[in-house]
Amino acid sequence: MTKKIHLIAAARPNFMKIAPLWRAMSGGSDLLDPVLIHTGQHYDKNMSDVFFEDLGLPAPDVHLGVGGGSHAQQTAGVLLKYEDLCLQQRPDLVLVVGDVNATMATSLVAAKLHIPVAHVEAGLRSRDRTMPEEINRLMTDAIADLLFTPSPDADANLLGEGVAAGKIHLVGNIMIDSLVRSIEKARDLGAFKAFGVQSGEFGVVTLHRPSNVDDPATLEKIFNVLTAVPMPLLFPVHPRTRAVMERNDLVARCGLDASQVQLIEPLGYYQFMNLVLHSRMILTDSGGLQEETTYLGIPCLTMRPNTERPVTIEQGTNELATVETLADQVQRIVEGKWKQGRIPDLWDGRTAPRIVKVLEDYLA
Ligand code: UD1
Repeated sequence: MTKKIHLIAAARPNFMKIAPLWRAMSGGSDLLDPVLIHTGQHYDKNMSDVFFEDLGLPAPDVHLGVGGGSHAQQTAGVLLKYEDLCLQQRPDLVLVVGDVNATMATSLVAAKLHIPVAHVEAGLRSRDRTMPEEINRLMTDAIADLLFTPSPDADANLLGEGVAAGKIHLVGNIMIDSLVRSIEKARDLGAFKAFGVQSGEFGVVTLHRPSNVDDPATLEKIFNVLTAVPMPLLFPVHPRTRAVMERNDLVARCGLDASQVQLIEPLGYYQFMNLVLHSRMILTDSGGLQEETTYLGIPCLTMRPNTERPVTIEQGTNELATVETLADQVQRIVEGKWKQGRIPDLWDGRTAPRIVKVLEDYLA
C-alpha cells in the first residue's frame, strides 16, 4: 500500500525545495504518493505560478487560498484550513520545508493530529528571535519527527537543543537539487541582456527582510549606499519592499537613477538564475541566495547582522554586510580580492533521493 505524503508549499523560497522532492517521489518511489498542497501565502503570478511552471511542478492538488495578512492572520488561517484538510485526507506524513509561517502552522496541525512531520532544512539558527523565521524554525524543529539537515552546524544546533540523534538526518541542501537541474538552461537564457548590462559586469540586489525594508529610514540608508556602488545593479523588487518604497516615495527621495539601480519586477526561477549566473556579485538579505552563490562561487554580500547559514561564510563566498562596510566590500570584489570558497559536502544535487530513502525506511 502506498503512503500519502503532503508536500507543503506556501511562499516563493519553498517551491524550489519542494520540486525535487515531488519529482523523486512521483517518479522514483513505489511507496510514497505525493500530494502537493499550496497554502497561498504567496499568490502573485510571478511570486508563485511562474515557479511551478519553471520547476516542472504540476498545479497544486489542493490550494488553501489563505493569502497574506499579519503573522497571526496567516498562521490562524492555515491552522483552520489545513486541519480540515488533514481530517479529510489523513496523510501518512506531512513534509514541510524552510522557515515560513506555513511551515510552522502546518507542522503544528499535523503534530496535534498525530501525523508524523518531516522538516527539510531543519536545524538552521540565526539566534536572532526578532526574525519571524527563527521562531518558525524553533517551533517546527521542536515538534518534527524527522529532521533533515543541510550541514553539520544544523545537526549540532539540534543536538544542543536536546533533539534525539536518531531523528536527525544530514542529507545536504535541497535547494541545490533545483539549481543543479536548471543551471545550463538558466545560463543560456538571454534574460540579463534585456536590461542593457554585460555578463560579469553587474550586480543583483534583493531585499525583503522586515528588518531592512519595513522602516523607510533604514531602507533609505541602504539605497543611498547602493547608488554609490561602481557597477550597474539590477533589483527585482519584492512586493513587501515595493509597498514601502511607494508609500514613502523613496525612488525620488534617494535619487535612484535607472542607469545605476534598475528596479524591476520579481522574476521567475530561470530568469532570475540567469541574472545571478551572469552577475559579478549579489547583494541580498535572502537565505537561499547565500546558499546558491556559495554553490556557484559568486561573491555574496548579506545585508544582515547574522545568518542562520554560517557554512556559507565559513566555506562559501558569503560575507555579512552593513551600510558602513558595504563600500569597502564591493571594492574588494571589484579588485578581484574576494575569497574563492568551496561547495559544502552533500550540496550535490542528490539530496531529494537521500530524503526519499529515509522516508521509505521510516514509513515501510
Ligand atoms: C515570506 C517569509 C520569508 C521569506 C519570504 C520570501 C514568513 C514569516 N516570511 O516573507 O521567510 O524569505 O516570504 O519571499 O513566512 N505580497 C504580495 N504578493 C505575493 C506575496 C506577498 O503582494 O505574492 C505582499 C503582501 O502585501 C504581503 C507582503 O508582501 O503582506 C509580505 O508577504 P509575506 O508572505 O507576509 O512575507 P514575505 O516578506 O514575503
